[in-house]
Amino acid sequence: MGILLIWSLVLFLIKWIACKRRGAISYDSSDQTALYIRMLGSCVIFKQLSTRDVRVRSRAGFVSERRGSHPYIDFRILHSQSETDVPLSARNIRRLLSFQRYMRSSLFFRGIAAQNSLYILDDDYNGQAKCMLEKVGNWNFDIFLFDRLTNGNSLVNLTFHLLNQHGLIEHFNLDMVKLRRFLVMVQEDYHSQNPYHNAVHAADVTQAMYCYLREHKLAKTFTQWDVLVGLIAAATHDLDHPGVNQLFLIKTNHYLASLYNNTSVLENHHWRSAVGLLRESGLFAHLPLQDRQQMESQLGCLILATDISRQNEYLSQFRIHLDKGDLHLDNADHRLFILQMALKCADICNPCRTWELSKQWSEKVTEEFFHQGDVERKYRLDVSPLCDRHKEKIYDIQIGFITYLVEPLFVEWARFSNTRLSQTMLGHVGLNKASWKGMQQEQSSSGDDTLPQKDRIP
Ligand SMILES: *[C@@H]1O[C@H](CO)[C@@H](O)[C@H](O)[C@H]1NC(C)=O
Ligand SMILES: *[C@@H]1O[C@H](CO)[C@@H](O)[C@H](O)[C@H]1NC(C)=O
Ligand SMILES: *[C@@H]1O[C@H](CO)[C@@H](O)[C@H](O)[C@H]1NC(C)=O
Ligand SMILES: [Zn+2]
Repeated sequence: MGILLIWSLVLFLIKWIACKRRGAISYDSSDQTALYIRMLGSCVIFKQLSTRDVRVRSRAGFVSERRGSHPYIDFRILHSQSETDVPLSARNIRRLLSFQRYMRSSLFFRGIAAQNSLYILDDDYNGQAKCMLEKVGNWNFDIFLFDRLTNGNSLVNLTFHLLNQHGLIEHFNLDMVKLRRFLVMVQEDYHSQNPYHNAVHAADVTQAMYCYLREHKLAKTFTQWDVLVGLIAAATHDLDHPGVNQLFLIKTNHYLASLYNNTSVLENHHWRSAVGLLRESGLFAHLPLQDRQQMESQLGCLILATDISRQNEYLSQFRIHLDKGDLHLDNADHRLFILQMALKCADICNPCRTWELSKQWSEKVTEEFFHQGDVERKYRLDVSPLCDRHKEKIYDIQIGFITYLVEPLFVEWARFSNTRLSQTMLGHVGLNKASWKGMQQEQSSSGDDTLPQKDRIP
């Protein structure tokens, strides 16, 4: 989701400005805008690919970058990874990441993984999973439970079910075998060892996307094609996420950073990985070339929109449309724009869920940040903002995230789609933020003495 990088930077800069003001913390909106602009200033403005661009690229032999295309494996890393603890250079970390990716994507390892997960599913679990799917449009849907009941196959099961239920398999004459194969490949290309950016997050975002697609305004106007693009984009939007942020990839000279010119590095990679899997599976091979190209470029529009560093661009565009009241959903470009906004909402909707679900997501994302920080410390790199487990607090991270990214987005979404669901989501955001604030106050009033030993700064 790309959230890791810039959001970290936002909070870091906000803190920095607050410090410069000697603690006079006043985050007015102009500050915030200035921060975003400063951050975005260093980014290349993304030029949206038109269908023609894609065609030119494909003709010029645009090769998808996934799958064994970077097999520069240094086998010493495999050995040094075990206890021996040989200090690795940043260059070696880069190789390690490529290596892991190569291992996971090689057919050999894929076969082994498949064998290991051949459990005989308890009929009862299967029945309960099916039962849950009847309420898949509920905002309270518990994706963690569903993932357990499906033996870790939530993304495959949920996406297949939604495509089927929407009549998309029939409408686009999709081959069930190819579809399952595609979805299994998608699920396996998520890193299950990532605490947050794994297939369960993708399944959660897909479920949220489905809830938004069911909203009156969208359900009334969106075509089968729109729904297909929206669901596939949601399922693939974080494909092959390495569990570290863009900043990490840049500072370790990871090949993806140079491949994508330090810009929306992860999102570009998710998109190209999705395109690679689509082509490999042949899921849409029976559709006209133009449709396939349109699918690929629209997936790009949607997935690249999840780069959180570009949120203000999308949000101000959204505001302008809402102020003018000029969104016409019979216009395909406007529908695509709403799909982008819906995917952005789905991607950061964790704080809009019930506390029980929301809290689990917060813990997972914090764990992933802190893990990155641990790796950085271990290899003597600067510990990235929000990634230092000795300094950062989960409630501070969440309060900042909610205040600067989630609330502004969902307030506009509720203006666009003023429904019960939107009100429910805003309600949860408010309650969850209050809960985190409660913890923050508890900590500040009880003082550092109550900190457990392991959390103390050495
Ligand atoms: C979930 O997927 C597994 C493996 O593809 C399949 O055996 C099971 O029947 C599916 N369950 C549901 C509820 O669709
Ligand atoms: C990406 O950023 C790094 C670090 O700032 C820099 O060394 C590198 O040249 C940049 N690469 C590109 C392609 O801009
Ligand atoms: C890469 O980024 C630099 C500035 O950051 C820009 O000058 C250059 O044109 C970009 N190259 C590509 C291929 O996007
Ligand atoms: Zn995401």
